[in-house]
Amino acid sequence: MSLSNQPQLNPEHQLALSEVIGALSYALDLTEGQPPGHCIRGCWIGFHIGQQIGLSSAELWDLYYTLLMKDAGCSSNAARLCDLYGNDDRATKRDFKTVDTDNIAQMVQFVLTHTGVKGPLAERFKRVLNLARRGEQLATELIQTRCERGAKIAKQLGFSEKVADGIFSLDEHWNGQGKPQGLRGEDIPLFSRIALLSQVIDVFHHVGGPTAALNEIRERRGSWFDPELVDAALALEYDVDFWAALRDDDIGSLVQSIEPEVRALTVDDDLLDNIAEAFSQVVDAKSPFTAGHSERVALYTDVLASKLGIDAARRRWLKRGALLHDLGKLGVSNSILDKEGKLTDEEWREVRLHPVYTEQILSRILPFKEMAIVAGAHHERLDGKGYPKGMVASELTLETRIITICDIFDAITADRPYRGPIPVPEALEIMGRMTGTALDTNCYHVLLECVHEMQLDK
Ligand SMILES: [Fe+2]
Ligand SMILES: [Fe+2]
Repeated sequence: MSLSNQPQLNPEHQLALSEVIGALSYALDLTEGQPPGHCIRGCWIGFHIGQQIGLSSAELWDLYYTLLMKDAGCSSNAARLCDLYGNDDRATKRDFKTVDTDNIAQMVQFVLTHTGVKGPLAERFKRVLNLARRGEQLATELIQTRCERGAKIAKQLGFSEKVADGIFSLDEHWNGQGKPQGLRGEDIPLFSRIALLSQVIDVFHHVGGPTAALNEIRERRGSWFDPELVDAALALEYDVDFWAALRDDDIGSLVQSIEPEVRALTVDDDLLDNIAEAFSQVVDAKSPFTAGHSERVALYTDVLASKLGIDAARRRWLKRGALLHDLGKLGVSNSILDKEGKLTDEEWREVRLHPVYTEQILSRILPFKEMAIVAGAHHERLDGKGYPKGMVASELTLETRIITICDIFDAITADRPYRGPIPVPEALEIMGRMTGTALDTNCYHVLLECVHEMQLDK
């Protein structure tokens, strides 16, 4: 469906679009290495700036979703960023947000403190030199990827060109020194100008409160930022409620309450499918080794669920859970996800947190509570030796068991950083040895049937 049409709704299942996108924006914060709620707070800040400059309700609605979705393309450059800097992509992204890129001393300091810090000295030397010689071009490429991807996802969700353009030009600076196009002044879409300003206010507010945030934007007035917008933000200096909201744990509800009613949408099943699909693509874009993983797991899940006699409505619900099962992987560094060698204990600890993040984010959406538990349990095992909770067989629903078996089937048959893809017959043999302890025997037999019917075992 298109966001321009009010969907037909069953009143009992009304779910606001702002609630779904607001909750899922926490997944985008994870990728950016930002404290939880960064996009939500950015939305609060930018929305107030939009009001200050007199935007109409319809414009504020578009601005609202530009701000919530501004980081939708963020996962697409994580692997490359990690490769270039030889460092945790999330820490690199987080710290880069505090750097004034017009300030050479700050940039040099950033590269020196964030490049190959854990690697051997010679490796570090090479990486720093590479960034010094090709830094400008590499940064443009990284931002271009992120912008294009973010704008594409917004359009895929049915948001307007204005929203997509706002996301695309997020990193352009008022003085023409931004990326990827080097747009200047009012050539930069207004929503991008507001989103960048809001982002910096949130980052500096988090570190040093309102004074630090306002000092920073005064400093970059006319270089990074549109002077008129800086003045609009400065006019909020003595608005106690505005700043108090940024410290409020329940800012999610506050942000939901300001969505302009003019377009306030509730979500139907088609749109929910669409959103789950879009966010699964954000997850899969994070690592070259997980490309297409969520989508394949969702497809296998649907096929198995159908064979097991699960009805169409429940299957549709389960497919969304399968699409989003690895949402929490956005919170794991690519230096771990793409690592070729064995993981250290500490790295394993980080990997084991990803289903926890999945469950936490999905349970922010009230009607997703059950799905959050089902998806968050996809690494649990029947014998209680799984993670993160060590659940036992009696706690594992059929739905979780289906996602788990499909997840493992795809993990074994897909290419991995430390090995090539394993042929299907061999994968099934390995999985056969896991039945009864890790995997559900019945689900396994149904998988065998499906694979045989589709002649994938040849
Ligand atoms: Fe997983
Ligand atoms: Fe997975």
